[in-house]
Amino acid sequence: MAHRSGRHFLQIPGPTNVPDRILRAMDRPTIDHRGPEFAALGREVLAGIKTIFRTEQPVVIYPASGTGAWEAAIVNTLSPGDRVLMFETGHFATLWRNLADRFGIRCDFVPGDWRHGVDPDAVEARLSEDREHAIKAVMVVHNETSTGVTSRIPLVRRAIDRAGHPALLLVDTISSLASIDYRHDEWGVDVTVSGSQKGLMLPPGLSFNAVSEKAQAASRANCMPRSYWDWAEMLKPNQAGFFPYTPATNLLYGLREAVAMLHEEGLANVFARHDRHAEATRRAVEAWGLELLALDPSEYSSALTAVLLPDGQDADRLRRIILDRFDLSLGAGLGKVAGTVFRIGHLGDFNDLTLTGTLTGVEMGLELAGVPHRKGGVDAAMRFLQTAAAGQEAATA
Ligand SMILES: Cc1ncc(COP(=O)(O)O)c(C=O)c1O
Repeated sequence: MAHRSGRHFLQIPGPTNVPDRILRAMDRPTIDHRGPEFAALGREVLAGIKTIFRTEQPVVIYPASGTGAWEAAIVNTLSPGDRVLMFETGHFATLWRNLADRFGIRCDFVPGDWRHGVDPDAVEARLSEDREHAIKAVMVVHNETSTGVTSRIPLVRRAIDRAGHPALLLVDTISSLASIDYRHDEWGVDVTVSGSQKGLMLPPGLSFNAVSEKAQAASRANCMPRSYWDWAEMLKPNQAGFFPYTPATNLLYGLREAVAMLHEEGLANVFARHDRHAEATRRAVEAWGLELLALDPSEYSSALTAVLLPDGQDADRLRRIILDRFDLSLGAGLGKVAGTVFRIGHLGDFNDLTLTGTLTGVEMGLELAGVPHRKGGVDAAMRFLQTAAAGQEAATA
């Protein structure tokens, strides 16, 4: 491989770029996880992470990838034979459903076109039909990382309430937490699943379950065998800042720094920044004359944008050319949209120039790969960002 100068552009929708400040925070000796110094760190991160989930309820931190936290949500609340309602919003909803299948959970998997989020009316209709309350949980992916579609969780909550149904609400926020507005308590979510490697700007390796009182009660009554993932086993030592097994200590140093950084910027500003970069990206895509995979503007993702190539064009070849020529990694199309879609991640530690650099790489790549498109995508994004910056200047003057 030829020598590469400068920094790699990691613009996949997670793992995201880890800021130097977080790298430095983790670059410390690992301490005794049963000693007093650790207890202070444990208490600080367990309290701090709640402010990101916007919850007063416990957040369990696992040394695991997001898939582990998916499994934890299932084995704590559900048993073989239980019915759940899920929606085929894309690749990750499909993977979560497959995981539930392996535990003998019976999924009512509402088919989807991978271009829309969860339909709240369908939630209400399905739950209203279930008069015996056989459905134990509604399980949805907030931000479908494979499609760039964000489901509207408050509307899903209202649909459950309108149906008067007691099902638990389980939400995957692996690619939305700390990038897109999310409120575990206010939105009445029972289990929120998340991971460290996206909006939290950490390396992969931590994942989370925020758990409501109702979810904890369901867990206590649930006889599904579990050990490593058991919330009760975690929550006991967590009270004193400890973990039941060896925690990922250095990632917790990073988590403490990430929470501090997010609050220094202000969560509302973090979300507004992601909204701005997503809008700039969509303007570039429109100017190129390419198609967004997401069809409903009220469901556009602020964390990533999935772009559909014209018929006969190979998205993986485009990505390969862009990686080889410009050292820029873009997300691949996954599952049903493999080869026809590429994804631009614009989440995490990211600014206007990282975005314009990324879009420049895409625009040059489109030309090199011979993908039919119009010029001017980067210009359109720049005009939008410039106008937004001028507005911010005026507001602070
Ligand atoms: C929405 C969503 N859910 C679940 C996962 C799986 O997480 P992990 O790969 O960390 O196990 C991902 C990974 O990208 C994701 O984006």
